[in-house]
Amino acid sequence: MNQDELKALVAQAALAQVVQGELVGVGTGSTVDRFIDALAASGLRVAGAVSSSERSSARLRGHGIEVLEANAVTRLPVYIDGADEIDPQGCMIKGGGAALTREKIVADLAERFVCIADQSKRVPVLGAFALPVEVIAMATAQLIRRFAALGAQAVLRPGVRTDNGHPLLDVHGLRITDPLALETEINQWPGVVTVGLFARHRASLCLLGTPTGVQTLVF
Ligand code: A5P
Repeated sequence: MNQDELKALVAQAALAQVVQGELVGVGTGSTVDRFIDALAASGLRVAGAVSSSERSSARLRGHGIEVLEANAVTRLPVYIDGADEIDPQGCMIKGGGAALTREKIVADLAERFVCIADQSKRVPVLGAFALPVEVIAMATAQLIRRFAALGAQAVLRPGVRTDNGHPLLDVHGLRITDPLALETEINQWPGVVTVGLFARHRASLCLLGTPTGVQTLVF
């Protein structure tokens, strides 16, 4: 099975996590695209979706699935999203698709985070994938210096603005052995909108696509 087939496999498996008649939180990325398609084809009835990006909203609406504003939602049983890396505790790096801020907002609304990923995303320690950080533009140079002081190299993602209109840094050279501590620290830096570390909002379940089928990791 190639990577696309593994993504389709976990997208299909994630349908079992959807609560019929309720809202579903929907992440962003190629794996989530497969999930949206599978949801539309499944005949499962949901009350609508809360989406983490313009990209996912457009795909959901294209399938006739109503997209609700996060501000209008008080109860969200489950949020389904991909990851760029996931560690043995369910902590993740996210934001490869630049949607990290809205992803964290929707994850915060949800009772459970279900991560769907192919097996290449599972790592012993986070950090080989450059850590995305959404920032306020005027703080960029200072934040690059802050990361340098940690021994890391933050690089502006060229030509990219998030759905919120902000630039993104990709931070190379981190070995993240304590994701919660690093997330907490970076969150304090002025000019950081969102760090793409999901330790406070880690997955409670991960459906991992492997050549022998879907592996379920419970955290
Ligand atoms: C979007 O900003 C990211 O957090 C995605 O969830 C992550 O990059 C996974 O994307 P793929 O499913 O395309 O690998």
